[in-house]
Amino acid sequence: MDLSTRYLGLTLPHPFMPGASPLVDDLDTVRRLEDAGAAAIVMHSLFEEQITREDWFHMRATEMNRESFAEALSFFPRSESFALGPDEYLDHIRRVKAAVSVPVIGSLNGTSPGGWLDYARLIEAAGADALELNLYTIASSPDESSQDVEDRAVEMVCLVKEAVRIPVAVKLSPFYTALGHFAKRLDETGADGLILFNRFYQPDLDPENLEVLRSLALSTSSELPLRLRWLGLLSGRVRASLAVTGGVHSHLDGLKALMAGADAVQLVSVLLKRGPSHLKTLRAELAEWIDSHGYESLSQLKGSLSLHSCPDPRAYERANYMLMLQSWNPTQKLAQ
Ligand SMILES: Cc1cc2nc3c(=O)[nH]c(=O)nc-3n(C[C@H](O)[C@H](O)[C@H](O)COP(=O)(O)O)c2cc1C
Repeated sequence: MDLSTRYLGLTLPHPFMPGASPLVDDLDTVRRLEDAGAAAIVMHSLFEEQITREDWFHMRATEMNRESFAEALSFFPRSESFALGPDEYLDHIRRVKAAVSVPVIGSLNGTSPGGWLDYARLIEAAGADALELNLYTIASSPDESSQDVEDRAVEMVCLVKEAVRIPVAVKLSPFYTALGHFAKRLDETGADGLILFNRFYQPDLDPENLEVLRSLALSTSSELPLRLRWLGLLSGRVRASLAVTGGVHSHLDGLKALMAGADAVQLVSVLLKRGPSHLKTLRAELAEWIDSHGYESLSQLKGSLSLHSCPDPRAYERANYMLMLQSWNPTQKLAQ
């Protein structure tokens, strides 16, 4: 079964790859991922704060009084929370690149245009075949408009595209005022891929101890439909290739994402739960499904459930919404 796909200008034998995560921290695990057939290896991120922290500390020290500075410092993860500093990160890319023959995708994660983006060039020089730019942010300032937020992101993509020749994918959250328009802007700016979507880790509160609770829960398939909707809406409307991240746990989840328009399928939670060898299972199950349903290749079904040929996606979304509400069966007994 031909499962090949094009993603970020790369021809891959199939769409499954591990997403950015600590799975790449250990070279043995990286080799196990390749042995299980990973189509590419995505590095975990190098964060803007890791690169700029020294500048940041210096600036804050001169700007703020001692007490509030101490408080601000406590917001930052301690340096040992990050396994690798910027130089070690580049070394690790070289090591991963030497250990596997599949494409290696670096990852930069930040929110503001600036000198730290020079690391895009260094990541390319370290051997990465492509780069993810993760724009994880929450637009929390009442003084910043949606236009400001988007302009900032577009400027970052521009700077990175100017700095490197390798393809650049932008990893997005779903929380933009007009995501379709913003995606089109990123596409026009030269983003080679869009990755849908970052998960928002939502800390809880502990009222007894007056603490913020940060525990990372892995995803479930219930997070997939939001991604399916946006893959379906963007597929065929942007030149950039599309990847799904978030909520893919089975071959059927992957299949739905591909039918909605994904070119690549990234997996993290399921691999953390089941181990690298699960990649092989998912690939075999996908091939089996496609074969048993009479398709000759993956490309025959890719995008078949997208809204590309729908003349008015907005009307379609409204109709879907109304039909969904009507699908509730009024004869169902109410819980007492
Ligand atoms: C432990 C852990 C670490 C992660 N680290 C990164 C990271 O460094 N950069 C990044 O872009 N995403 C990171 N992610 C997010 C994943 O790449 C992925 O987008 C998210 O987990 C949703 O996919 P999933 O449902 O398959 O887990 C991390 C996720 C987990 C669980």
